[in-house]
Parts: sequence; C-alpha cells; structure tokens
Amino acid sequence: QEENLLKGKKVLVTAGPTQEALDPVRFITNHSSGKMGYEIARAARNMGADVTLISGPVALDAPADVHMIPIISANDMFTAVKENYKDMDIIIKAAAVGDYRPQIIAENKIKKQGDTLEIKFVKNPDILAYLGEHKKEHQVICGFAMETQNLIENAKEKLMKKNCDMIIANNLKVEGAGFQTDTNVATIIKKDTIETLDKMSKYDLGKTILHHICDIMDEKKGA
Ligand code: C5P
Repeated sequence: QEENLLKGKKVLVTAGPTQEALDPVRFITNHSSGKMGYEIARAARNMGADVTLISGPVALDAPADVHMIPIISANDMFTAVKENYKDMDIIIKAAAVGDYRPQIIAENKIKKQGDTLEIKFVKNPDILAYLGEHKKEHQVICGFAMETQNLIENAKEKLMKKNCDMIIANNLKVEGAGFQTDTNVATIIKKDTIETLDKMSKYDLGKTILHHICDIMDEKKGA
C-alpha cells in the first residue's frame, strides 16, 4: 500500500539554495526555491517515512511532520548532514549548494571603491561526494544534476564520480522545468538505465523518485 511503502525508513532530504556571506549585509546565492526538495520530503512523509529536511533559506512553509533543520551556508549544510546521515536509509540531495564561497567574510560592510571589485572565492565541500565516500551498505543516495548543456553525459559522470545510486537530471532550458516552477521535466539516471519522464508536478516527481528508490532497495536486498 502506497502510504506504507516507506514505513520505518529514515529519509534525509536537502533542499533550497545556500547563502555565502560577503560581509554583514551581502551574500552570494542562486535561484533555487526549494520546491523540489520540499515536495520530495512531503511525498516521503506521505509514504510513511521518518523525514529530516535540511534546508537553506526559502520562502516555503515546512511540510507537516518533518524534522526541519534550517541552515544558511554550504558549510552549515555540510555540518548538519555529517551529524545526521549515518542512520539514514535514503538520502536525497536536492539542494543547490554553492560551489564556492568568498574566501574572506569582511567584518564590516565593503565600501564602494574603484570601478571594479575583485573578490576571491574558495571551494566549498562537495557534500554529495562526501556521502558517496562514506556510504553505508544499506543506504540509497540520490543526487540532482541541473545543467544548461550536455545534461545526460554530465549527470552520468556525476553518478559514477560521486558514488550515487541515482541522479535526477533536469535541463534548465526546458519549459516547465527547473527553478521556481511547480512542475519539472526530469531524466532518471541509474547505473544501468536512463528514463526521461514527462512534465509533472514536483510532488508527483517526488513520488516517482521515491518509487525508483524502493526498487533499488529491493534490488540491494535481493543481491
Ligand atoms: O556537481 P554538481 O554540483 O552539479 O552536483 C549536483 C549534486 O551535488 C546535487 O545533488 C547537489 O545537492 C550536490 N552538491 C553537494 N555539495 C556541493 C555541490 C553539489 O552536495 N558542494
């Protein structure tokens, strides 16, 4: 039965953007609304799972009956993930994590100065790669790939490199897909299969993703 498919399972979802501070009043971020991750969390909850949602700053209400952990920066998200991933059965990384952060967070507001301004950035930790490296036997890990070019090739490479079980690829340039929208057009990439789905609501896509994850868990049990 649908409501019980994930009963007893612990699901961790990350969602939303990260904010990387430049000074006390400014930050670098991206257009992630958090909708995809929140809808996955809601779907998992409705399928009976015990859900933890680690979220960057978004304008959405927390889904009911979900353990919320709000964070600001990629480093905050990394800390929260490390504290929570070990006993999770399913980890879905829908967050749009900033790849870089300003090397220095200025203590005071950066003053207007010359005609150009240079800011040095340093790499953030790749949280999904960390999870892949530390993956437990029973865990299923699902990442996202949003690209504007060579979507499928890049996503397949990500799957292997980050030791994920599944990557959800979505092309920013397709109508009804990506940031802010309530719908998405996604391709589900597993180790041996690629399936492009029709446009659907982010909630339905969340359910579809979770069904694929159930299949992977069954396969693991059977192996
Ligand atoms: O390599 P790329 O950033 O495109 O991979 C996207 C996937 O990796 C997403 O699932 C995203 O949540 C995750 N990611 C991460 N930590 C980062 C960058 C991306 O967990 N620093």
